[in-house]
Amino acid sequence: MLKSGARDAAVSRTSVPPDLAQIFEPIRADLESVEQKFVHHIESRVELIPEIGRYLQASGGKRVRPALLLMCARLGGYRGENATLYAAVVEFIHTATLVHDDMIDDAVTRRGRETVHARWGNDITVLLGDYLYIKSMGMALTVDSLDLVRLLCDVTRGMIEGELYQLTKVGDVDISEGEHLEIIRRKTAHLFGGCAQIGGMLGGLPEARQAALRDYGISLGIAFQLVDDLLDYTADETVLGKPVGGDVREGKMTLPAIYLLQRAGAPARALLDALVRDRRFSPDAWNELRGLLTEHRVLDLAFERASEFAAAAKGFLEGFPPSPELNALMALPDYVLARDR
Ligand code: IPE
Ligand code: IPE
Ligand code: MG
Ligand code: MG
Repeated sequence: MLKSGARDAAVSRTSVPPDLAQIFEPIRADLESVEQKFVHHIESRVELIPEIGRYLQASGGKRVRPALLLMCARLGGYRGENATLYAAVVEFIHTATLVHDDMIDDAVTRRGRETVHARWGNDITVLLGDYLYIKSMGMALTVDSLDLVRLLCDVTRGMIEGELYQLTKVGDVDISEGEHLEIIRRKTAHLFGGCAQIGGMLGGLPEARQAALRDYGISLGIAFQLVDDLLDYTADETVLGKPVGGDVREGKMTLPAIYLLQRAGAPARALLDALVRDRRFSPDAWNELRGLLTEHRVLDLAFERASEFAAAAKGFLEGFPPSPELNALMALPDYVLARDR
């Protein structure tokens, strides 16, 4: 029986994990408006587009990125209409990345449902992802702020570079921790940083404060992905809503495996060569790997690394005046560490 949650596999903690709905309470109404905008902007005379769009919207998702943008906008004092539009834009970008990522990773479930490529096939998935990307930029261009469009383009390009960089490292058992963190920074953390920075820009915060929010988002994003990589080893698949063990099956070394190789020597090398380099997945090999990860306490080590980034994220919020949004942003790194889905 697999354990649930990254934290169960790691060092013991006593605090109660913060609930996401509770953290998002200050922006609940705005998040509802983001859902409506998502559905509205997916409308097209080509019926297949809203059909898949509604399927994706209804499948849920945690909405962490739009929430981050909205909370940072409020932190900056912004109360205008455009925050929810940009929040829908970043969720479109995230969704585009997911549908392409699942096709690349050959993952058949996401958010507990069939992935787009499993249901509609690869041809449609490629074009649907492209549609979401370009639509997101078109939405951003309806507001007269080229700075924000430029930032969104940079962030999206960074994500795609990260996914491509990751592909060049598939099967590479000797990938370093630094290289792995660079992949994560690009494929996941850039968008988190962009969301936080856009919020700060909307609020007209001074540049130093915008940079602090961006750095908060980047550290939060790195912690988020490190935990995602842990959950790939430790989660309950039905809770997680996507396959467990996917990374190894896809030939990807993540931090637990990188640390294992450093600590466990020859037996780990032979196992990771078979699983990651030669892609010879078997339930026995998987169980052996999980046994070694526990024995050498490398899940704990990887969790500690995630905790360092979560703590660094909080550090970037120092100096912001107290507010409900600040409290929410301070709670988000704890949620990220405690999450089980
Ligand atoms: C999944 O992101 C992709 C990663 C960066 C790990 P989320 O975990 O935010 O996915 P949803 O939107 O909540 O399904
Ligand atoms: C995150 O990496 C993918 C993106 C940033 C698009 P993963 O491949 O680990 O994400 P999941 O596990 O499929 O959600
Ligand atoms: Mg994936
Ligand atoms: Mg993953």
